[in-house]
Amino acid sequence: MILKRLFILASAAFFSAMISLTALAEPATATTSKHANKGIACVLCHKENPPAKTVPFEQCENCHGDNDTMAKRTEKTSPNPHYNHLGNVTCTECHRDHTESVLICDDCHKFKLKTP
Ligand code: HEC
Ligand code: HEC
Ligand code: HEC
Ligand code: HEC
Repeated sequence: MILKRLFILASAAFFSAMISLTALAEPATATTSKHANKGIACVLCHKENPPAKTVPFEQCENCHGDNDTMAKRTEKTSPNPHYNHLGNVTCTECHRDHTESVLICDDCHKFKLKTP
């Protein structure tokens, strides 16, 4: 009886450890936020507290400006990732804050651009 209980406890511990390991694969936390590492608080991007959802690109534009503003800033980069023929692409389609960013242009092209 005691042994059986111990077994159940042990497997419960094992499975919750497995679950937290799975969650640890890509956790969005203080240490994974590139901005938070530069001293920018969660609430400056996330509207809800604690953060739970992705961030609307308008939040990015509040600090950095829109695509046109960004296009001027990166006009020396070729091709300019902020000035393109795709029309209105939102910031977070390329820039991620907690994971590697992606360059959606490379769905079709192969550019030598590093996306911060
Ligand atoms: C620069 C803006 C920014 C800051 C600052 C930021 N985040 Fe995020 N966060 C994002 C974006 C954008 C996403 C969407 C996924 C991604 O880009 O990695 C996200 C996703 C998340 C998610 C997952 C939501 C989902 O879709 O599953 C959590 C949880 C989270 N952030 C927590 C935090 C916490 C905690 C902090 C502060 C330590 C923080 N974030 C700071 C931009 C930010
Ligand atoms: C509260 C103001 C603020 C908000 C909101 C904000 N940023 Fe930033 N961001 C900064 C500051 C400050 C820096 C660091 C200085 C710099 O590199 O310009 C920075 C840096 C960056 C960089 C350059 C990182 C590097 O390593 O060169 C990118 C890309 C960026 N932000 C994208 C975003 C995106 C996308 C969002 C929305 C999800 C966002 N930012 C929201 C203030 C902000
Ligand atoms: C198509 C993908 C893409 C989209 C969409 C995009 N960016 Fe970028 N962004 C890049 C790339 C690539 C770079 C690196 C440019 C370079 O190396 O000069 C960059 C650089 C930056 C930087 C750093 C600039 C610097 O001077 O160091 C900031 C800040 C930034 N982006 C903000 C934004 C914001 C805000 C938006 C939305 C209005 C946005 N980006 C939309 C791909 C993108
Ligand atoms: C859905 C596919 C697709 C995506 C995504 C895409 N492109 Fe293109 N792009 C094309 C096609 C098709 C052409 C025209 C064929 C050619 O000239 O090779 C082209 C041509 C270009 C050219 C050369 C023609 C010119 O206008 O001078 C540039 C520069 C360019 N794209 C930049 C970008 C950038 C920057 C991005 C990301 C913001 C991007 N593209 C995303 C399909 C795409």
